[in-house]
Amino acid sequence: MDLATSSRRNFLKASGAAVAATSLPLRWVRAEDVSPSSKPKLRFAVVSDLHYGQANTPFDKMAGELVEWINKEKQDKGLDALFVNGDLVNDTAPGLVILREQFFSKLKMPYYCIKGNHDYVDQTPGSPSESWEKVWGYPSNHTVKIGDFVFVMADSSAPAKSNIYLAADAGWLQSQFEAHREAVSIFVLIHIQQRKHKVDGWPQHGVSADEEVPKAEAVMKLLESTPNLRAVFHGHNHNETGVYVSGERRYFFDSHAGGSWGAKRGYRIVEVYDDHKAVTYQINAEDNGETSRHELNTPANP
Ligand SMILES: [Fe+2]
Repeated sequence: MDLATSSRRNFLKASGAAVAATSLPLRWVRAEDVSPSSKPKLRFAVVSDLHYGQANTPFDKMAGELVEWINKEKQDKGLDALFVNGDLVNDTAPGLVILREQFFSKLKMPYYCIKGNHDYVDQTPGSPSESWEKVWGYPSNHTVKIGDFVFVMADSSAPAKSNIYLAADAGWLQSQFEAHREAVSIFVLIHIQQRKHKVDGWPQHGVSADEEVPKAEAVMKLLESTPNLRAVFHGHNHNETGVYVSGERRYFFDSHAGGSWGAKRGYRIVEVYDDHKAVTYQINAEDNGETSRHELNTPANP
C-alpha cells in the first residue's frame, strides 16, 4: 500500500477523544457549538437491530419501547423521518408484517426500512412477506428525498440467510449518486459495515467473505469519492455506538434497539442546521442520555 493510500484509509475511532493520527477535523462537539437556539432544517433518527421475535428476549416490549422513544423525539424536538437500519426481525418473515401492523403503524412520522441479514423474506409466491417491496412498498435498494436531502438505502444481505454479509450493489449506488449529484446532501444507510474486521482497525462483523471483500472495498471507494455524501450509517454491530472514518467519510453506528447482546439500547439523531453544519449524536435510551456528538462532513460543493 502506498503512502497516499495508507493516508486515505487512516481511520479514527472517535468516542470523544481523538485516538489516531489523522488530519481530519473530527472532534466531539458541544451542543452549543451548533446554534442551539435555531431550529434544524432537518432532524431524523436512525435505529437498528430490533431483532423482533428473537427467542428469550422481551421483543414485544422492546418494539413498543422503540416506538415510544421515537414518538417522544417527535413530540419533544420534532422529527422529519425515522430510518430503521436493518435486522428489524430475527429470522422471521411474518414478523415483518407484525412489526408493520402492530408497532410501526403507531409511528407519528414517515419511516423507511433497510434490509438486514436477519430480515428474512418468505419467497413463497403470494406470501404477505414474499419480498421487501411487498412488505414495505419499495425494493431493498431504495432512495427517498426529504426536502432537498437524499437518502440512499442499500441492501447488504441475502433474501433469507443470516450468515451472508454482502457488498452493497456499487452499480446501483453509483446510479443514485449520479442522479443526485446536484443535491447538497446525500446520506447512505447500509446495514452491514463494508470494511472487513481489523482492516485499518475496524470492528467485528463487517463484510468478510473473500469474494465479497473487493466488492465492498469498491463500495467504500465510491462512497469516499462522492463529494456531496455527508455520512454513512451502519447497524449490525450492537456494540458500536460511535464513528469510524475512512477516506474522509464518516461511518456511524447506533447500538441496537433489541436482541440479546450489545451496548446500551438506543438510537442516533441527526440534525442539519444549514447547508454547512450538521451534527449527530447517539442516545442511550436505557439511561435517557446523549452519549457522544460529532459533526458531519461538510459538503464539498455547498
Ligand atoms: Fe445484522
